[in-house]
Parts: sequence; C-alpha cells; structure tokens
Amino acid sequence: PNIILLGPPGAGKGTQAKRLEEERGMVQLSTGDMLRAAKTSGTEMGKRVAEVMERGELVTDEIVIGLIEEKLSGAQGGGFIFDGFPRTLPQADALGRLMEKMGQKLDAVIEMQVDDAALVARITGRYTCGDCGAVYHDETKPTKVEGTCDVCGGHKMTRRADDNADALKTRLMEYYKKTSPLIGYYYAKDQLSGVDGLAEMDSVSKAIAGVLDR
Ligand code: AP5
Ligand code: ZN
Repeated sequence: PNIILLGPPGAGKGTQAKRLEEERGMVQLSTGDMLRAAKTSGTEMGKRVAEVMERGELVTDEIVIGLIEEKLSGAQGGGFIFDGFPRTLPQADALGRLMEKMGQKLDAVIEMQVDDAALVARITGRYTCGDCGAVYHDETKPTKVEGTCDVCGGHKMTRRADDNADALKTRLMEYYKKTSPLIGYYYAKDQLSGVDGLAEMDSVSKAIAGVLDR
C-alpha cells in the first residue's frame, strides 16, 4: 500500500516509517531526510534550505515537490510511506497528480495524534545515528550500548539543528497553519485514519497495522 504519515514534529512519523520498512518492505520517502541530504551536499539550494529548516519554517513547495518528483520517477511502484510530505494543500494536490500519472493510488492517510506538551520532551531527547539514520531517544529509546547504534554499530550519534525549543515553536506554528488543513482535505476524500501517537511505540505500530490490514 501507499500511505501518508501525517502529524506534527515529534509525532513519531520517522520511527514508524522505519518499522514499516523493516516489517513490510515498504519504502520511506521523507522530505526532511531529502532536504537534510541536500544540505550536506553543499549546493546553493542546500545552503538556502538549511537556513530555512534551522528556523523551523517550511521550505517552498516548489523545492519539495521537485525532490519528491525526482525520487518517484526512478522508483518501483507500490508501498511508499510518505513521511513529512505533503505538508501544504498545494503539495497534497501535486502528490495526487503524481500518483495518478504513475497509475498508483493512495491507500491511507494516517494522522498521528499527539499533544504539544509531549512533543517538547520527544524532540529535545531525540538523537539519530549519522551512519544509518536510526532514531533514538534519551529516555524512551536509548541505544543498548551508549554511543553505539543498535542497528549498524556506528558511533556517529547526531542531534538535529532544529531540535531546540525555539525552532520547535516555529515548526508547530507552521504545522497548525499550513499542514493541519490536510486533515480536513483527506477526511473529505474518506482517506483519513487517526491513531493515538502518545501510546507506546509498539501500540502505535499495531494501530497502524490495523489500518493497513483492514
Ligand atoms: P522533518 O524532518 O519532516 O521533521 P518533522 O516533521 O518536524 O518531524 P520529526 O522528524 O521531527 O518527527 P517525527 O514525527 O518523525 O518523530 P520521530 O519518529 O523522530 O522536517 C524537518 C524540516 O524540513 C521542516 O521543519 C521543514 O523546514 C523541512 N521540510 C520537510 N518536509 C517538508 C515539506 N514537505 N514541505 C516543506 N518543508 C519541509 O520521533 C521523535 C522522538 O520521539 C524520537 O526520539 C523517538 O525515539 C521518540 N518517539 C517516537 N515515538 C514514540 C512513542 N510512541 N513513545 C515515546 N517516544 C517516541
Ligand atoms: Zn546506525
């Protein structure tokens, strides 16, 4: 199936996308990861994007849609997890058109419901393996051996530049202003399912599986 994981920063989209990749062989398409990769590539676009992301604002639709288009054009169909995309109504329209062009359909939009108070703790405790992208948390999901990735054994633990209280506030404002209208958009298309994102990681996975295997 092709699905969208929709939710505010820290809702657990990346965590669940990685699990779906492992368990179902689906393919995660995270525009955040693509943009962070563009940033390290050192191109002009990458530099401009890095500043916007660091403030917690959304990157332009044009850039993001371009990145997704590029990824999808080479990809084998079936089983995409859109993580952090679409984030605006124009992006949602663009995805609809792209899927149609590929002869694919969107099977579900999963809204991960959380409250703002929980997000601060999640975001400020997060760290990521610089080698494989595995996501950890100081309290809820530490590595088994401190400083060593459980998945790949790497030692490059990193924290994101936008994972601080100031940028998070802007990221949340952007979410409510520009992304939350997508809840109504997909509800009207009868594609929306809500899951409780505040539950434990395993329970969230089960709830998502419930939607996919419906
Ligand atoms: P992006 O990279 O997409 O970040 P985000 O949406 O802010 O989401 P996060 O990655 O912060 O959170 P997540 O929901 O994946 O949570 P995670 O699983 O890591 O975007 C970054 C920036 O890029 C944007 O601000 C924007 O500038 C730009 N951008 C990206 N896409 C764009 C677009 N389409 N248009 C325009 N601009 C775009 O979990 C968080 C933490 O909580 C982890 O430590 C995890 O271990 C822990 N955790 C997860 N689940 C649970 C649980 N159930 N219980 C306890 N702890 C949990
Ligand atoms: Zn790793």
